[in-house]
Amino acid sequence: MTQTRPQEQVYQHIDVRPLAGSLGAELLGVDLANLSEEAFAEIHRAFLEHSVVFFRDQSLTPDQHKDFGRRFGGLNIHPTYEPLPGHDEILAVVKDKDAKHNIGDTWHTDVTFLPEPPMGSILYAREIPPYGGDTLFANLSMAYDALSDGMKAMLDGLNAIHSNAYLLGGKDGDEDRNKTRSTKLREDKRQVLSAVHPVVRTHPETGRKCLFINQAFTTRFENMTREESQPLIDFLVRHASRPEFTCRFRWAEGSVAFWDNRCTYHYALNDYHGFRREMHRVTVNGDRPI
Ligand SMILES: [Fe+2]
Repeated sequence: MTQTRPQEQVYQHIDVRPLAGSLGAELLGVDLANLSEEAFAEIHRAFLEHSVVFFRDQSLTPDQHKDFGRRFGGLNIHPTYEPLPGHDEILAVVKDKDAKHNIGDTWHTDVTFLPEPPMGSILYAREIPPYGGDTLFANLSMAYDALSDGMKAMLDGLNAIHSNAYLLGGKDGDEDRNKTRSTKLREDKRQVLSAVHPVVRTHPETGRKCLFINQAFTTRFENMTREESQPLIDFLVRHASRPEFTCRFRWAEGSVAFWDNRCTYHYALNDYHGFRREMHRVTVNGDRPI
């Protein structure tokens, strides 16, 4: 399988340690609450080069977390989940000791049911279990590059429908998920939201082509039925999440992950039953995929 990682770049203000051959790098020597312009510019460059970047031992107030996000753009208020009290732009992703389900245990890209899905999400670990709760990421431009020319030609002209029906319990009929999760759906926003996006998008900053369908929110291809679409959606998700295209991050309290939501999947493992996990997410607005 061809892997096309770009030439590694040189950094002077941060220490960049790639995590895997496909994507992901830990950025050391960084205090996100106190960033110089030079360090910020290199973090942005590393983010584009590695698609997901990780920071350790950060200490952020909710306002500092939001301030870091705002350096990349406006902040998204999650359209479906309850926000952190007092901070509409922060989603508290919590699983309590006695909760059964978590959030994010499918291969997905965040909030793709909006016309302009986020450019990135910044997840900050406040409380983590003694083991488990890792997050996996996958590189969707590398996955696209590895498809056959025939499959690429077929996908290049296709659009897909994305919907939040899965979160609301409509896609798989699992109405109990909200009852057995700690982070709750907003009672005032239970309407189905949907958007149409190209199946292959061009990254607005790197120019690379990326697969842009996912397991959680893509319901079908435009002008096709759900039954006709699902086998190809299943294949593409299986293909894009091959181990060769992924990395896996082990959290500690104070860790931060910042993923490029335009060209990656992530998957939050639910393997820490009996322990509490609390993460705060700031989500940066993006543009309409083309
Ligand atoms: Fe997510």
